[in-house]
Amino acid sequence: MSEAFDAVDVIRAKRDQQVLTDAQIDWVIDAYTRGVVAEEQMAALNMAILLNGMTRPEIARWTAAMIASGERMDFSTLARPTADKHSTGGVGDKITLPLAPLVAVFGVAVPQLSGRGLGHTGGTLDKLESIPGWRAALTNAEMLAQLDDVGAVICQAGSGLAPADRKLYALRDVTGTVESIPLIASSIMSKKIAEGTGALVLDVKVGSGAFMKSLEDARELARTMVDLGTDAGVRTSALLTDMSTPLGLTAGNALEVRESVEVLAGGGPADVVDLTVALAREMLDAAGRPDADPAAALADGRAMDVWRAMIAAQGGDPDAPLPTAKHTEQVLAPADGVLVALDALAVGIAAWRLGAGRARREDTVQAGAGIELHAKPGAPVRAGQVLMTLHTDTPDRFDRAAEALTDAVTIAPAGSRPATGAVVLERVDAA
Ligand code: URA
Repeated sequence: MSEAFDAVDVIRAKRDQQVLTDAQIDWVIDAYTRGVVAEEQMAALNMAILLNGMTRPEIARWTAAMIASGERMDFSTLARPTADKHSTGGVGDKITLPLAPLVAVFGVAVPQLSGRGLGHTGGTLDKLESIPGWRAALTNAEMLAQLDDVGAVICQAGSGLAPADRKLYALRDVTGTVESIPLIASSIMSKKIAEGTGALVLDVKVGSGAFMKSLEDARELARTMVDLGTDAGVRTSALLTDMSTPLGLTAGNALEVRESVEVLAGGGPADVVDLTVALAREMLDAAGRPDADPAAALADGRAMDVWRAMIAAQGGDPDAPLPTAKHTEQVLAPADGVLVALDALAVGIAAWRLGAGRARREDTVQAGAGIELHAKPGAPVRAGQVLMTLHTDTPDRFDRAAEALTDAVTIAPAGSRPATGAVVLERVDAA
């Protein structure tokens, strides 16, 4: 078959800061998915996009082309409205676990297609797979049946959804081209639009542990994604949330499940509860349930009931003990004072090195590995007090994890205040 374009011409156009035509974009995504555009050519094009950017119409067309590379799901047969949440990824970000069942309490179906972690941010599926028996892979029919019965499902995205993104993301990951706003926005939104949710709330993380290190970049990413969703007919809004310090008191798979269950039992760390409730309010509002009271449903056990049903529906035993690591080591406070900073990226890298994350897609993760925090920014501390407990099955990993934590902790004289406070920083709505 003769091809409509030559990949080198498309690469040169973006290299020379031209705006790609709709036809060029449609062709390059389709030809890459078919294997006609080679990996090294797509890598060069991604780098040109990272360096030179894309206009809004280019991003919209790139997203549409990725959606067209695969199937679109359809939830229109469900009796309930649908709402989904997507986080751009952070350290200790276990919010999906309590959030999906919490929103389902109010008759809104939550189809949460999730991924596995790569690098220092954990993956929701890795966390849930620490629950004995729990299964991530569902057919579309199983997913629909669970949404009908239970109201919430967290499962692996099928390979038919935006296959172009699957290839592209793997390539970006190994070619230093993840951190591009057009590429991140189109990657996330192609999957969410193809998934067919009626409403979508984006949790755009800002800070050391996030892709977006500055508020300005996070705002631009949020605005780009909200516009893409809105133009595609999905009610979309975004919260910009702090990721300069880990969320909650745990980073690691089973450790984060344990903390999520504490939140579902009406307890848990305040930042996790606050963000879960804030995102639930956004989702419920967008799904036409503005009067729902998610804080009450966490406190009185209704969200826990849905959690138990959701885990059991996917073969998991909600009462089974969670795996624990074979070895632990403590990190002590070096001085008296106030803990004013606890760096998210350092904690994320350390948890990853302990075995909670993977370096390559084919690696396995340790269910029990990770980090427990015993103090958060703002807490007064004494020299020698335990600040963190490191968990792993493979104790030769402790040294490399401790190395990552060398500058993670900042202790200032008594009376000092931490630089960060509220978890939710800003909101971005349809323009
Ligand atoms: N998550 C995605 O799905 N894609 C990106 O590009 C970044 C985060």
